Amino acid sequence: MWARITLAVVFAAYVTGGLAAQRCVPRSYGYSSVVCVCNATYCDTVASTTSAQLATGGVRHYSSTKAGKRLELAITKFYPTPRGKVARRKLISRAAFRVNQGQRYQEIFGFGGAATDAATINTYSLSARVAEKLIRSYFGKEGIGYTLVRVPVGSSDFSAHYYGYTDHYPEDITLRHFNLSMEDFQYKAALQAASWTTARLALLPGGDFGGHVVRLLAFHLGEPGSIPGRASSRSSRVGIMPFIKRAKQMSPFPVKLIATPWSAPDWMKVINHTTNVNWLRKGLFKVYADLYVRFLDGYEAEGLDFWGLTPQNEPSEGIATGKFNKMGWTTEDMITFLVRDFCPLLKERGHGGVKVMINDDQRRDVAEWLKTYNNEDVYECAAGMAVHWYKDQETPAAVLSEAHRLYPHKFLLYTEACFGKDAALCPRSSALKNLCP
Ligand SMILES: *[C@@H]1O[C@H](CO)[C@@H](O)[C@H](O)[C@H]1NC(C)=O
Ligand SMILES: *[C@@H]1O[C@H](CO)[C@@H](O)[C@H](O)[C@H]1NC(C)=O
Ligand SMILES: *[C@@H]1O[C@H](CO)[C@@H](O)[C@H](O)[C@H]1NC(C)=O
Repeated sequence: MWARITLAVVFAAYVTGGLAAQRCVPRSYGYSSVVCVCNATYCDTVASTTSAQLATGGVRHYSSTKAGKRLELAITKFYPTPRGKVARRKLISRAAFRVNQGQRYQEIFGFGGAATDAATINTYSLSARVAEKLIRSYFGKEGIGYTLVRVPVGSSDFSAHYYGYTDHYPEDITLRHFNLSMEDFQYKAALQAASWTTARLALLPGGDFGGHVVRLLAFHLGEPGSIPGRASSRSSRVGIMPFIKRAKQMSPFPVKLIATPWSAPDWMKVINHTTNVNWLRKGLFKVYADLYVRFLDGYEAEGLDFWGLTPQNEPSEGIATGKFNKMGWTTEDMITFLVRDFCPLLKERGHGGVKVMINDDQRRDVAEWLKTYNNEDVYECAAGMAVHWYKDQETPAAVLSEAHRLYPHKFLLYTEACFGKDAALCPRSSALKNLCP
């Protein structure tokens, strides 16, 4: 259904740019683009618009460039012809538009980052004023409008050490000792001493919280207890939850939280270890479902409800060797876990509304997970599919179009995209010297 809209031929007049925004103060680290530097008194902002500015044919658009523009606002006005009276000097182009009102594309849920240990530790290692500006630049009214936050269940590959929620209580299958970790409530006092992270913090607007700078603190895993200060007081209440709470307070929009675990506690796995090839013991699927629900309850008790969750970060990784925090799942086991144990328990314990996402892995795996929708119970349990951007170049984006065509009611959401992950090697890598302190 083609509808010729009234603006069959229009003139566009370019009005202005950078409205009342503070611009990016660029700094180059020798890579292909720059980062924006913030301090206690200055941080770049994104300009907002008033309804008056957009009235009568106003359109706002934001530009970022390799050279250093960061979401700079410009407003363009369209004037219908021939009646519109526009001073000649203002006209920049003429264009004809044809709008097909019958074709609707997907809704965009939003953009976001991850509240990992690395992100929160780095944020709160800054002075209070800079930390506040940093969170504001992502979530505040003058920020870039993040509305999605991925929250690790336990430690992730952006943690300073490994932890689960019943690590010290092997075979505690009733989860009598379940408790959220100090990392959830506050970050370690000892890490504040890692002052080299503070001096160098530069922002990557539009990037991920897990972007290369925060990754500097993501040391190798597998050294439990290597971080001193575990027994320090909870009084400062600075950590993942306070961070999310502050972000939510600042945001003019509702902020959606998404939970993702990297691994079950080691004792629940076939091999008592966090990294390398490993998976959940078959007899413990129900216990693990219970642990996950307790995590959701723990956050809910703090006023933080989850909009969505994934049952596992990159389930394919745990079936491969490699030294990072992970746990493997075959598609069959995941279906069993979801259908038999997890989804029924979510309903039973008051979390039936949370959106369960399958895959949470590379685009390469979308086709395989798509087939699982043929299982009625999976179709019922899963609201959509989560996708990561690594190796996107190996699988054409057409697979996403196909997924949407076949299952228009199942959404697709990119849940992880980070850059510069090798910064974890900072202290040892000369190739990264530009980023290292
Ligand atoms: C903060 O940044 C602004 C803008 O780059 C700069 O003019 C100012 O001198 C900086 N303040 C400090 C204390 O570094
Ligand atoms: C739960 O963990 C927190 C933070 O580590 C701690 O302060 C609290 O005492 C723990 N609660 C229980 C019941 O163990
Ligand atoms: C698992 O490994 C850890 C660290 O190597 C060890 O302390 C713990 O006793 C082991 N647990 C079991 C159940 O084997």
